[in-house]
Amino acid sequence: MRKLVQDGTAVVVLSQRADAFLNNAGTWLVLAGGTVAAAGSPAEIVAAGALELAGVVCPRPHTGLRPPAGAGHESGVDGPPALELRDVSFTYRGTQGRGWFRAQPGPPADPVPVLHGLSLAVSAGEILAVAGPNGAGKSTLLRHLNGLLQPTAGSVLVRGRNIGGQPAGRVSADVGLLFQQPRDQLFERTVEREVRFGLERGQPAADQAVQQALAAVGLEHLAGRHPAELPASQQRLLALATVLARRPSVLALDEPTVSLDGHGLAALDRVVRSTTAEGTAVVLVTHDLDYARSIAHRLVRLDAGRLLAAD
Ligand SMILES: Nc1ncnc2c1ncn2[C@@H]1O[C@H](COP(=O)(O)OP(=O)(O)O)[C@@H](O)[C@H]1O
Ligand SMILES: [Mg+2]
Repeated sequence: MRKLVQDGTAVVVLSQRADAFLNNAGTWLVLAGGTVAAAGSPAEIVAAGALELAGVVCPRPHTGLRPPAGAGHESGVDGPPALELRDVSFTYRGTQGRGWFRAQPGPPADPVPVLHGLSLAVSAGEILAVAGPNGAGKSTLLRHLNGLLQPTAGSVLVRGRNIGGQPAGRVSADVGLLFQQPRDQLFERTVEREVRFGLERGQPAADQAVQQALAAVGLEHLAGRHPAELPASQQRLLALATVLARRPSVLALDEPTVSLDGHGLAALDRVVRSTTAEGTAVVLVTHDLDYARSIAHRLVRLDAGRLLAAD
């Protein structure tokens, strides 16, 4: 960027994160609610606290992992783990695989195994972070937790019950999966209907569950809006609310921090901490190690489909 500026090029960078890279800028404009909320040098803006007010994501201080989740959660202390993977391996095949393989000239490519003998257990109230580079198999792993994908070998147990062969629609009452792309799980015409979808129709507690889930992510004032009109950060929070409303015992979050602004990150933090305090087990997948360390009790790495202890 400096080279461009020296050469006389004006550079405008749009970002919702105040990354170190942006300290190269001479001036920061902070936009909020469609107007300029603050303007000045990076140092002036930081000193005025304008970033947090506007919901800009600020670098987090480096922290260690939280102490191990101990006893004291009301459920699952003596029983089976909330979630267990036993020697799970997986290869995409047939309709799960990419149809375009067939369109390639020559013999069809051999399917490549994506997960290799994964074993892990997560207890009630525990937050496990899984970090790893793109393509490591993180999303593939999460799709096994609610039965969207079935292991090629090995088994997945939720509260001690093998979910093999059960449709994802049934497992999802127990395991809530927040997709990597929130738009993949939003399809209703209002925020309120989106959260209500999937709850038992006419269930007296449904109204309350919808209100509580929307309040938990701070979207209660947007109940009548069309999900497609919301900014990306609120779409992710809405997808999270649809999952929370069913009060799952396991929450699986795929790259939950991506596209969240500062307010969204704070809401996600509150939700993860409060649901685990109530005994939900959380598995979150991220490539953001700082985030993983700030929230998780335990961190593992997934690399080329194999689980490794994190350094
Ligand atoms: N539907 C699919 N069909 C075939 N291969 C896939 C499919 N989805 C993902 N893959 C492949 O599986 C590997 C792991 O992908 P993914 O689980 O999305 O990784 P991550 O979430 O860690 O980035 C990648 O090589 C990817 O190309
Ligand atoms: Mg992924």
